[in-house]
Amino acid sequence: MNKPIILVVGARPNFMKIAPIYAELKSRGQNLILLHTGQHYDDNMSKVFFDDLGMPKPDIYMGIGSGSHAYQTGTVMIEFEKICNENNPSMVIVVGDVNSTVACTIVCAKLHIPCAHVEAGLRSFDRDMPEEINRILTDCVADLLLTPSVDGDINLEKEGISKDKIHMVGNVMIDSLFSNLERVKNSDVWGKYGIPEKYALLTLHRPSNVDDRGTFADIISALVEIGSRIDIVFPIHPRTRKMAEQFGLFKELESVPNITITEPIGYLDFVALMSKSKLVLTDSGGLQEETTALGIPCLTLRENTERPVTVTEGTNTIVGANPDLIIKHAFDTLETGGKSGRVPDLWDGNTAVRIADIILDFIE
Ligand code: UD1
Repeated sequence: MNKPIILVVGARPNFMKIAPIYAELKSRGQNLILLHTGQHYDDNMSKVFFDDLGMPKPDIYMGIGSGSHAYQTGTVMIEFEKICNENNPSMVIVVGDVNSTVACTIVCAKLHIPCAHVEAGLRSFDRDMPEEINRILTDCVADLLLTPSVDGDINLEKEGISKDKIHMVGNVMIDSLFSNLERVKNSDVWGKYGIPEKYALLTLHRPSNVDDRGTFADIISALVEIGSRIDIVFPIHPRTRKMAEQFGLFKELESVPNITITEPIGYLDFVALMSKSKLVLTDSGGLQEETTALGIPCLTLRENTERPVTVTEGTNTIVGANPDLIIKHAFDTLETGGKSGRVPDLWDGNTAVRIADIILDFIE
């Protein structure tokens, strides 16, 4: 048997990126180890995604759980080093920008194991974001940098990274999205939560929005206005629920007019909800991309984005956390139908094929 390729997942946004790569490499007869660090561990943040995406149970589950950034990064490094020494992989594949991504990449660099970073080169240029630190450090030491869009290539070259390492492959998350659009039609998410035909979909979890009481309260005040015009569906992230309760804001959130607050929703039901929404309000990275691919207007409640093509080419508008601006843009979108855009180059559902070609070529 060939040496294995280890594919790393840690947190919710990783699962839909690894699923198509896993399936593609498997179809080419590769020896794979699917490793879950356990950074996200609740069934509705993790297991449901494996089921929805048709991924097998992880071969290795580390179970590191929640904790500070240093705790998560350090624990993953210690455990992952042991796993690499036991399994002697030919290549490790990491995705995205979570703590597990940077932790595993650093381990690979020190053990001289080739590491491919999928979703390389994205930069918000905001080092207050923990993910930005993870992106910079990961790209600095990974061997193959597989970018979703041309801005990624430009950023990496500006950082002095050799061109040979950089390959623009497109957006692998869009492979998962497009390949599941048919299955999504069977979803009964609307019946399950009593959701009407017209609604805005909201997600919120960034520390900059929910770890500061004033900012969180400002966003809720904008939601009060928006909820008076259109129903709002809000699958709440565990971090956001915890902070709302801690700040005594959960009651205010519940009393936003026409809001439906649900637990985190699985992949297929979530894509179903997104695909029929009039408007998405979010601080997630992935949703900015998925709404662009689906042509749904997206208002990003952040001051910047590491995914600028969603703004220059897609349906995304950066509105920040100022309540007046959020309300203005939301009302404009509801009146006009919002910004239209195009789907960026290579966001075509075939990114995993290009990734597999490059990785197998590199190993050989
Ligand atoms: C992490 C990622 C972020 C990603 C997000 C998607 C990092 C630095 N952050 O942030 O990039 O956008 O995931 O969700 O890696 N919790 C649960 N159950 C779980 C997981 C978390 O209850 O399954 C709770 C815990 O109380 C935890 C809190 O949620 O303290 C936040 O989790 P954390 O691991 O700090 O990161 P996220 O905010 O989810």
